Amino acid sequence: MLIKRDKWLQYRILRNASSLAGRLPETQLLKKDTLTKVLLQYQSIVLKPRNGSYGRDIIFIKRNGVRTYRIQNENNVVIMRDTNKVLQWLHKRNKSHGYIVQKRLYLAQIGHKPFDIRIIVQRKKGSSATWNVTGSYAKVAAQGYLVTNVTSRTIPVLEALKLARIEDRSLLVKAEHIALSAAKRLGERYPKLRQVGFDIGIDRKRRIWIIEGNYKPDLRPFRLLKDSSMHRKILWYKKH
Ligand SMILES: Nc1ncnc2c1ncn2[C@@H]1O[C@H](COP(=O)(O)OP(=O)(O)O)[C@@H](O)[C@H]1O
Ligand SMILES: [Mg+2]
Repeated sequence: MLIKRDKWLQYRILRNASSLAGRLPETQLLKKDTLTKVLLQYQSIVLKPRNGSYGRDIIFIKRNGVRTYRIQNENNVVIMRDTNKVLQWLHKRNKSHGYIVQKRLYLAQIGHKPFDIRIIVQRKKGSSATWNVTGSYAKVAAQGYLVTNVTSRTIPVLEALKLARIEDRSLLVKAEHIALSAAKRLGERYPKLRQVGFDIGIDRKRRIWIIEGNYKPDLRPFRLLKDSSMHRKILWYKKH
């Protein structure tokens, strides 16, 4: 099964479903002269390689004042006067044609560290099978990072909501519903697709966002959870 890892393609597939469009942070393909334009539109943006993973080569840019920008990659921060340096940096990595630009979300935090949620959805063999949520956890970014791929903690979602002082526990159920609709949409496009690991963000206004769906989600974090039932369920679904 060959399903291409491509954030831009996935955005376009999901955006076509009207119920999901409002759950996706506005995204464009980065073109040579769009960066300055986008930075006038939004104060804070994220650049991501189309086919990236592990939070690698992701750049956060924030317009500070007149023509100064705060630029962050991993846990490195620099202040720059113009964005040409950023374009040069992207060019050096030879990926400048394959980046998306996205509106920055202000993710909910635990002890000043942003976190997001991984939700695994799976279906049994046969393309008519229905999608099910089989597991979830929250990943809290490491100190100094804005991507949660570099993690300080992996904990159950409800525990994360509590630590973030989010009273509304139904947010998890809501996030699961959103993940299920997104999986359904992707499953229509890819009949052989049987699992997706969604990164779901909750912003400071408690709004739920789809950050991305991974077709080959890392299952190791489930072994870090005290409760092994999700891990077992996921493995069962993989086999059936
Ligand atoms: N638009 C955004 N606003 C804020 N944080 C983001 C945004 N997009 C991604 N992130 C953070 O960066 C992480 C990695 O981004 P993601 O799109 O999942 O790429 P990757 O494929 O590298 O994991 C996310 O889990 C989230 O913590
Ligand atoms: Mg991710």
